[in-house]
Amino acid sequence: MSANPTEPLLAPAQDPERIARMFPAEFVWGVATSAFQIEGSVAGDGRGPSIWDTFCARPGTILDGSDGREACSHLTRWESDLDLLVALGVGHYRFSISWSRVQPNGHGPWNDTGIAFYDRLVDGLLARGIKPHVTLYHWDLPEALQQRGGWQSRETVADFVGYARRMGALLGDRAATITTHNEPWVVATLGHREGIFAPGLRDRRVAAQVSHHLLLSHGEALTALRADGVRSQLGIVLNQAPVHSATALMEDRAKAQLEDGELVRWYMDPLLKGAYPADVLEHLGADAPQVLPGDLERIRVPLDFLGINYYTRNIAIAQGAYDPSSSGLELTDMGWEVYPTGLTELLTRLQRDYRLPPIYITENGAAYPDQCIDGVVHDDARVRYLASHIEAVAQARQAGVDVLGYFAWSLLDNFEWAHGYTKRFGIVHVDYRTQARTPKSSAVWYRALQKATRERSAGVVLRVLDREPS
Ligand code: FCB
Repeated sequence: MSANPTEPLLAPAQDPERIARMFPAEFVWGVATSAFQIEGSVAGDGRGPSIWDTFCARPGTILDGSDGREACSHLTRWESDLDLLVALGVGHYRFSISWSRVQPNGHGPWNDTGIAFYDRLVDGLLARGIKPHVTLYHWDLPEALQQRGGWQSRETVADFVGYARRMGALLGDRAATITTHNEPWVVATLGHREGIFAPGLRDRRVAAQVSHHLLLSHGEALTALRADGVRSQLGIVLNQAPVHSATALMEDRAKAQLEDGELVRWYMDPLLKGAYPADVLEHLGADAPQVLPGDLERIRVPLDFLGINYYTRNIAIAQGAYDPSSSGLELTDMGWEVYPTGLTELLTRLQRDYRLPPIYITENGAAYPDQCIDGVVHDDARVRYLASHIEAVAQARQAGVDVLGYFAWSLLDNFEWAHGYTKRFGIVHVDYRTQARTPKSSAVWYRALQKATRERSAGVVLRVLDREPS
């Protein structure tokens, strides 16, 4: 037994000191959350409704019939949540701003109470020695903009730039990084093609147009923030994965090639090469987005960093559905394969195919059916998941990929979109009845990893000083 009941029982593979030795002193360790998933208080203080409020209210959209009304009550508990970050030794915090909290209709008047919240949150982080990493858009479009066509409409691009500039003026001298969009593939594909996320549309042509407007709004916002003199590093976050073919059959391999185009190249190519991939354009045919002259130049603006969210690999199959349990790999509570080498594979492939800016792993983590028993949550499977993926990052770095940091998803168990509260991704357990927070073994382990990195760097300095001539 370990001395502390929440300390995980570690195999050598998860030894934090061994893993810390793979990273330089300045490597960024953080945790991530997003506004709609944790804040609650959706109706108070002048916040306008977002498309996720509307979507949750539609019967059958959310697995447990829940919504974001309470979530983790972070809006009222933010100070103790920041204290929790300190207790967990976390130096970097990635969170998102709820657009409709700061600008209820997505254009027009600002909501001072909402703006004051993020102002205080950022000051609260800095006062605790924690670096803020701000995401402007983590999927919660103001409902008023959706009424006007949402991301399908080019007007929303201009609205987003206005919102970005206001947030840049507010936080651009205090936030370490500002991300325009989180996972535009999810917004376009799950929100507008498959209809399983807000706003719940099922239209391939609309989805393609939405993806183009998201990218355009990213490029235009970045240019505007730079012109405004914002000091934060600026970038975008993409969800990516290697796409493997289920079999060696030609038809499955062709499907894998297309899915790689839709997931990886559709976003990476315009951002870094200034063009959409020809094979995906051909596949879309008449459903390809309307791209106006100059749009591609506006999208391809230099990135200070690229954020990558990685959870598992994708398997492509031409006919029917792939059954993840057939691989024999361990599965998480989402039914996703635990596949750490996919992260090294992805990063080294991106390095080969693109001229990459510095990379942050902005999300990585796993859901498990954790239970809090007598105030203790043993989540050793999550420790194994995190350790193996962090080691996969170290391997990519060794292969020459410039990865600057890693953010665990997530600080807290939270509202997991269409899965409601049924999936727990946190390194801290949340009891939704009482809102009690209980750090899991993984949080204790992550703290040890960060401490070991810091102490290691102190050791390096001492060794250098030892060698100074007297
Ligand atoms: C990512 C989302 C994040 C969370 C994780 C599990 O796609 O960015 O909000 O839901 O998945």
